Amino acid sequence: MFKKTIIWYKVFESEQQGFDLIPDNASIEILIGDRIFCMARYKGNFYALDNRCPHQGAPLSGGKCNENGAIECPWHKYPFDLKTGRFTLGPGDCVETYPVEKRADGIYIGIKDWCWKLFF
Ligand code: FES
Repeated sequence: MFKKTIIWYKVFESEQQGFDLIPDNASIEILIGDRIFCMARYKGNFYALDNRCPHQGAPLSGGKCNENGAIECPWHKYPFDLKTGRFTLGPGDCVETYPVEKRADGIYIGIKDWCWKLFF
């Protein structure tokens, strides 16, 4: 039986470190294992998304956040909601989003993982 779990990865040692690395309304790429994620900062909060734009595959990291809480792809400016990953101008593709937690010892991203388990 497969079981979905969330594995938490620390990406910043502190909130301040995240603020130092990501200006407000901006985004950077974050490497976790062999995967690259897009980490954005908007109104003092951090958001994590898949880094690949579903339109033509541009990296979302480097995109700016607009006033509606969406990240705009650097190539053609398609906006994706930071919380849901949905395209905000109508029906269409979306990007996966990941939970972000602020803890006493740093900022974490939760990545869903499927584990093969014999017994639960
Ligand atoms: S590649 Fe992202 S909007 Fe076109």
